[in-house]
Amino acid sequence: MIILDHVTKQYGAGSFSLQDSSFTVQDGEFVFIIGPSGAGKTTLLRFILRELLPDTGTVTVDGEVISDPKFKKTEELRKKIGAIFQNFKIIQEKRVIENIAVSLEILGTQNIHEEAMNALSLVGIADKALFFPLQLSAGELQRLAIARAIAGGRNIILADEPTGNVDPVTSWEIVKLFKKIHTDNRTILFATHSADIVNALKKRVIVMKQGKLIKDLKKAGYNLDITP
Ligand SMILES: Nc1ncnc2c1ncn2[C@@H]1O[C@H](COP(=O)(O)OP(=O)(O)O)[C@@H](O)[C@H]1O
Ligand SMILES: [Mg+2]
Repeated sequence: MIILDHVTKQYGAGSFSLQDSSFTVQDGEFVFIIGPSGAGKTTLLRFILRELLPDTGTVTVDGEVISDPKFKKTEELRKKIGAIFQNFKIIQEKRVIENIAVSLEILGTQNIHEEAMNALSLVGIADKALFFPLQLSAGELQRLAIARAIAGGRNIILADEPTGNVDPVTSWEIVKLFKKIHTDNRTILFATHSADIVNALKKRVIVMKQGKLIKDLKKAGYNLDITP
């Protein structure tokens, strides 16, 4: 379970990245975080990774207050989390399967090859295991990033605009892939500025604007307009 309780983060005077925001995400939920550029989506995800600490308020993951400055188990926390960011953070010099192996080594996984191949099969690029990232299309690179995030049983998946750099058809395929990897024991937080994606999938949606959480909608027939 992930809980943000009255979290505020301010950079300059009057400019809030996140302002008094609270929400709870249960295990196994799929939640879209939607809002225009600058709304605070990335900031919110970085709190959960403990890359940022709030000025006020608390962030709790699986019962531990990770926003506590004295929290000592950041490494353990990050082992639970698969993060998919727009700039991929893929290692260009390593083959596709090696990129996943590196991340499994950190987890201390036993059957690295098997686990890595399972993840690649799930996202549909097992045949590219021995390719180098430069030989992949943008969509395949994003699949690799997703495979790496889920490999080894990480059960919190944070995706920051994973469809930001691909064409609409590929974008839709990636969204369908997220639907496929969503299982009862995998929590997904998916940040996007695309209202189309969110409207199509009918999942819970948290709407942000200028650092504020302005709506929290459960699955419904919404038709969101997030024009700033
Ligand atoms: N390191 C930083 N220093 C100063 N301002 C920042 C920093 N990171 C984010 N911000 C500001 O916080 C706000 C929210 O940013 P961000 O979380 O990246 O939004 P989003 O991901 O929704 O586009 C923006 O106004 C941004 O300029
Ligand atoms: Mg962002």
